[in-house]
Amino acid sequence: MYTAPKKSDGKPVTAATLQKMKQAGEKFACLTAYDASFAAMVDAAGVEVVLVGDSLGMVMQGHSTTVPVTVDDIIYHGKMVARGLSRALLMLDMPFMSYATPDDALHNAARMMQEGGAHMVKLEGHANQLPVVEYLSGNGVPVCAHLGLKPQSVHKLGGFKVQGRDTDSAKQMVADAKALVDAGADVLLLECVPNALAKEITGAVDVPVIGIGAGPDTDGQILVLYDILDITPGRKPKFAKNYMAEAGSNAAAVEKFVAEVKSGDYPAAEHCFD
Ligand code: KIV
Repeated sequence: MYTAPKKSDGKPVTAATLQKMKQAGEKFACLTAYDASFAAMVDAAGVEVVLVGDSLGMVMQGHSTTVPVTVDDIIYHGKMVARGLSRALLMLDMPFMSYATPDDALHNAARMMQEGGAHMVKLEGHANQLPVVEYLSGNGVPVCAHLGLKPQSVHKLGGFKVQGRDTDSAKQMVADAKALVDAGADVLLLECVPNALAKEITGAVDVPVIGIGAGPDTDGQILVLYDILDITPGRKPKFAKNYMAEAGSNAAAVEKFVAEVKSGDYPAAEHCFD
């Protein structure tokens, strides 16, 4: 049975907390969650950021991509996760086409904050999204911009592939990262990019950078909870580590992930791309 978590004694994590951790060279840990019970568990384990990712379309709804996920789906799961949290920052993913124009983005981000409990929204960003990020930020919406592999564009990319491997696309990603920060992004997230490029971007911007398949040098690390608990069926991405193989319980697995992120033991070479 689910029992509501006690209020944590620790201060709630904010974008400023992550910023201070970056400056201090302290790594932070992030995980996805989609319901109150798992949210309470990852919060108690000391995760700084909990993401209601549109990965829920794949791991919970059984779709083969994140494209079918709607704003209502994210809000439904956001409400549940918000009830389970007492310390972590709650980030909600903006679904495919929910931020195609600044007005759509503001309308949907406002719903995610007012109805879904979001402290920050995440969108898959590139140069086209600069006006959107500027508009959200100017209206007081904290934004995380997701670069590198952008799963919502899977049909355009032709698959889930490592991004930024050639000189031109790497240069473009560095330029996009800087431009998104200038437009007001509070946090960046890099998915499936070579270690060296992630290191360059992390050093080039003064906002915290979260990595997934982006090597050991980003300020924080994120994984999909169902991957680390070995719930996701089938083939796992190279960067996913099965923490259940070493732990006796879900809680112990999450605690080990947090400890390994903070010590720098995760990600190891086998979870990274050159
Ligand atoms: O949707 C999601 O879970 C994500 C993470 C993989 C970063 O965007």
